[in-house]
This record gives sequence, structure tokens and C-alpha cells, in this order.
Amino acid sequence: MRVVIKDNEKQVAEYAYEIVRMALVDRQYKVLGLPTGSTPLLLYSELIAGLNRTEIDFSDISTFNLDEYLGLSADHPRSYRYFMETRLFEKINIKPSNIHFLNGLTDNVEAECAEYEDQIAALGGIKLQILGIGRDGHIGFNEPGSSLESRTHYVTLTKETIADNARFFDREKDVPRWALTMGVGTVMDAEQILLLATGENKAAAVAAMIEGPITQMCSASALQSHPDVTVVIDWAAASKLQHLEYWKQAADDYDEMYDFLTAARRHAGLEDSY
Ligand code: F6R
Repeated sequence: MRVVIKDNEKQVAEYAYEIVRMALVDRQYKVLGLPTGSTPLLLYSELIAGLNRTEIDFSDISTFNLDEYLGLSADHPRSYRYFMETRLFEKINIKPSNIHFLNGLTDNVEAECAEYEDQIAALGGIKLQILGIGRDGHIGFNEPGSSLESRTHYVTLTKETIADNARFFDREKDVPRWALTMGVGTVMDAEQILLLATGENKAAAVAAMIEGPITQMCSASALQSHPDVTVVIDWAAASKLQHLEYWKQAADDYDEMYDFLTAARRHAGLEDSY
């Protein structure tokens, strides 16, 4: 797990944009997993700006969103589908047929979830999965107690998540109590994972994710065992990390580590000297 700490939300988004750009341009990744919520909004603005600068292109990109409320239609103003359409999809050159979403009005929850897994597999799996994190450590809507092996499934939302998401609704009682979500196992299958978190209210969840035990009581902690995860956070979200100095130094040292390794390999005759 690589932890990158930035000064503010804007810098978090700019750094995250670079990771997405490299994934799309250098790694030629074609399948993205996307979150909704407040956290990725600045990144989505960066992606729109990047497209306008012709640095990136979405014409052959497919997306899978992490989750959707049960009971809301795609055009319901509070649905995650509507959120994505208005915040990102209608501002980029993605083909509508390449956008994949769980259907919140399905008449068969189990079949809908199984079909979503099949659709992901049919496209060769998610290459870059972008994530936010809930205050209780959830990723997607995998609330505390969700199996770390879980596949796409239906979930009963916690009171905490309902309260947190009430800001998007007129009244808290309008927030749906159930949702469909990719499972932790589904997320873990992605080739590369980028998790963003900003603000002090995420600090406890961030500390549990990075430094706590791997447990289904904090689904984000599963990411510790993924081989390619970058966590980009601001100082407020980092503020409860016990080894804050170490994480900061480790992030700063990353480029230096490669310089050191190249020099050592050259010394050992494994790379050409110049
Ligand atoms: C939403 C999702 C959730 C959010 C999390 C943080 O699609 O997957 O896990 O990422 O609840 O939400 P914000 O960013 O609004 O704090």
C-alpha cells in the first residue's frame, strides 16, 4: 500500500488525476471502476479538464460504478447513476453503451448482482478501481461485517451511512435503506486501486484501513493485501495515523528508492552505465 499525503483536496485530486492519466495513457487500461460521493468530485473535474486538454480520451473506455441505491430509477435525481451522468459522463466522450451500472429497480436482486459480475468478467476485469472511504471504513457499500471475499451483493445500509448520505436528500428518511454494491472481493480483483480520502471526518477510517488489522469490520483494510494500491489523502484525513512521519517519508522516498536501485543495479553490472 503506497500512502501519499497532500496539503489539500485540490492537490489530492491533481495527484489522483496523474495516476488515472498514466493508467489510461501509459498502461492503456480500458476498464475503470468508479465511485460516487463528494470525494471524487474534484478528480472528475480534473478528468474533464484533461479531456479538454486532449491528454486523455474516454472514447474506448468502459466503466463500472461501485454501487446504487435500491428503489431509485436511473433518472432519479438522487440515484448514483444520475449523479455520475451529471457530474462526469455527460461531460466526457464516453460511449453510453460502455457505462455499466447496477439497476436499482431490478426485480431480481441476486440475478442483477450475478449479471454485473459477468459483465465485469466479460470485459477482462476492472483495471483501475477508484474508491472513496466511508467514516465506518466501508468501500463501495460494504458496511462493517461484509465478507472480505464478497462479490456483488445487496446490502442493508448502516444508520451512520444513511445519516452521512442524508445531505444529498431532502430528509434523512428519504435515503434508501438498501443498496447494491460490488463486493470487497470484486474490488480486490482490480489490477490497480486508487483510494482517495480528505477531511478530518475520515481520519479514523483511514488509520484503521492503513494501520489496523485486516478485518471485515473495516472493509477498506482488505486493501492492505492488494499488490497495487495507492492511497491519496490530505493532512486532515492522515491526522490519526500513528506512523504519520513514516508514511510521509516512505512516500517521499519512492522516487529516491528507484534512483538508488538503478545505481545499485548499474554497480552490479545489471544495467548499462552512462
Ligand atoms: C460511493 C461509494 C462510497 C463512498 C464513501 C465516501 O459510490 O462507493 O463508498 O466512496 O461513502 O463518500 P464521500 O466521498 O461522499 O465521503
